[in-house]
Amino acid sequence: MNVHLVGTGRFLPPDVLTNDDLSKMVETSDEWIVSRTGIRERHIARGLSALDMGAQAARAALDNAGLSPEDIDMVVAATVTPDRRLPSLACDLQQKMGFSNAFCFDINAACTGFIYAVDVAARYLMTGGAKNALVVSVEKLTDIIDFTDRTTCILFGDGAGAVVLTASGAPGGLLGSHLASRGDAGASLSCPWDGYIQMDGQKVFKFAMLAMPEAIEKVLAETGRTVGDLTYVIPHQANIRIIESVMRRYGIPPDKMIVTIDRHGNTSSASIPIALDELNRAGRIQPGDLLMLVGFGAGLTYGATLFEWSCSPCSPQD
Ligand code: ACO
Repeated sequence: MNVHLVGTGRFLPPDVLTNDDLSKMVETSDEWIVSRTGIRERHIARGLSALDMGAQAARAALDNAGLSPEDIDMVVAATVTPDRRLPSLACDLQQKMGFSNAFCFDINAACTGFIYAVDVAARYLMTGGAKNALVVSVEKLTDIIDFTDRTTCILFGDGAGAVVLTASGAPGGLLGSHLASRGDAGASLSCPWDGYIQMDGQKVFKFAMLAMPEAIEKVLAETGRTVGDLTYVIPHQANIRIIESVMRRYGIPPDKMIVTIDRHGNTSSASIPIALDELNRAGRIQPGDLLMLVGFGAGLTYGATLFEWSCSPCSPQD
């Protein structure tokens, strides 16, 4: 069986925190944040739970795929910020949305969570373990940010993105995937149960500069494709300087590299599906297009996934 992406969705909470807002809370400036990270503003989930956001993104992805909740037989939620330890966010989504025929579980691979969750779901779909999987990435990072720490609080935002994956004999869909972890470097980005994100920004930055190209090249080698074959690269949105270094390294033009960090900040595992949904609903993806999704994050983890777009039910709705 091949694995096809047949629907996308996103939810961004309505409240927005600008760099100027942050400069009233900590000693920073719009100029510093934009020049070091590319971020101008981020959405924050005031009065909304991770479940609220995940359900909105999931509903949008289901509508986009033209499926109903009973059609879904597998739900994977990627998150580092579930509303509670038990039950899983995926099971809460099942209860809230009526995924009555699904088995449901969460994955924590931090900002690489979406890439990991898609890989895991795809393996069930390929081997007959499921027919239609919902992957939803939800992050309420403002719950684990210290808003007195200027080195981290400027980076992150809240949001959710979702996709529906379907098993089908049709050609195309998922072409290749590569996952990797470096637990020995885990201390450079962590968060205790009762505290806030702690990060050695420069270590994580250097890791990302190596990890993203490695993941891309592994998937290209596995699938016999080249960078020139790619229609779009959708990277994890952590820092515009990391994204631009990937563009420079491979000569990727700006219209092929999808950037949302200026408007959303780093939404961890949600950043890739949110960007994918924006691209889809803008009507910018055609059947046959090749999409490289690539991420890195706490763990440390990293990975990439290559899809050939074959979506006939998906229709632009923005
Ligand atoms: N405003 C003003 N000054 C600041 C701020 C701020 N918000 N934050 C730090 N500074 C200061 C520092 O104190 C330092 O001052 P000093 O020179 O007097 O000591 C100076 O700016 C430079 O600090 P650096 O840490 O060297 O700045 P850098 O250019 O490395 O940028 C950043 C920091 C943006 C965090 C960068 O390292 C980065 O993006 N790293 C990657 C982080 C990342 O991607 N994390 C997410 C991973 S995904 C996940 O799983 C959650």
